Amino acid sequence: MLRRLLRNVGQGAPAGPAEDNPLLAYARSPRCERVMIKWLHYFDVYHRHLSRLRGQAITFIEIGVFNGGSLPMWRDYFGPQAHIVGVDINPGCARYAEPGIDVVIGDQGDRGFLRELRDRYPGAAALLDDGGHTMQQQIATFEELYPSLDPAGVYLCEDLHTSYLAPFGGGYRRPGTFVEMGKSLVDRLNAAHVGDDGAGPDAFTVSTDSLHFYDSMLVIERRARAAPEQVTFGRLADFHGVPPPPPGA
Ligand SMILES: C[S@@+](CC[C@H](N)C(=O)[O-])C[C@H]1O[C@@H](n2cnc3c(N)ncnc32)[C@H](O)[C@@H]1O
Repeated sequence: MLRRLLRNVGQGAPAGPAEDNPLLAYARSPRCERVMIKWLHYFDVYHRHLSRLRGQAITFIEIGVFNGGSLPMWRDYFGPQAHIVGVDINPGCARYAEPGIDVVIGDQGDRGFLRELRDRYPGAAALLDDGGHTMQQQIATFEELYPSLDPAGVYLCEDLHTSYLAPFGGGYRRPGTFVEMGKSLVDRLNAAHVGDDGAGPDAFTVSTDSLHFYDSMLVIERRARAAPEQVTFGRLADFHGVPPPPPGA
């Protein structure tokens, strides 16, 4: 069965982005002049998590500017009220600033710089990390900037395949990679159920709605959360109490 499933990977329904995806439409149009490099399936993920922010006066931060190709795409996507901020270590990227688009030069591996960025753009609605992709850079950026996003904001970190690549500090299930850190966030999201083995709910638990793992990407949706509450509806029941698990389960 498993073999049949594996053989079918990549077959069946196309996994590519929908043709009506406005980001992809922009990228494929003559309006996209400067080079932008993305994995194709990212466009679906972007649109799924970011479309609710379109047409609003939000701040969107992308770490990693490169040739400046994606910044006008975000401006086109979110609309004229949005404030787009590109961040890059390369001072030459400053040339891609224009009305509505700031370009900030700095090193995302430097926590002092990240705190300055946080103070300059508090409450950003969304942050996309497409910068240097090392473990130290991705984790420092998440730790410093995630808590300062809008309480209903969204954090996206892409190119997580570097978590498996030694030159970036990665390695399969190697402690300290961004992917391993992301897995540990599952426990923090579920902290209210963990009991004495865990550290208990923390700031992440109460401010995070959901984690979404995709091929090479993690998306984290923020939302203020109360303690989970189990509720019962209806009046009639033939059975009472949840059966205990079978012995040895
Ligand atoms: C993958 S490219 C960004 C691509 C761009 N987002 C796009 O869609 O076309 C990565 C960029 O991250 C920048 N970068 C590398 N290390 C960085 C660091 N420590 N801090 C900030 N930016 C960094 C590089 O200069 C490069 O421009």
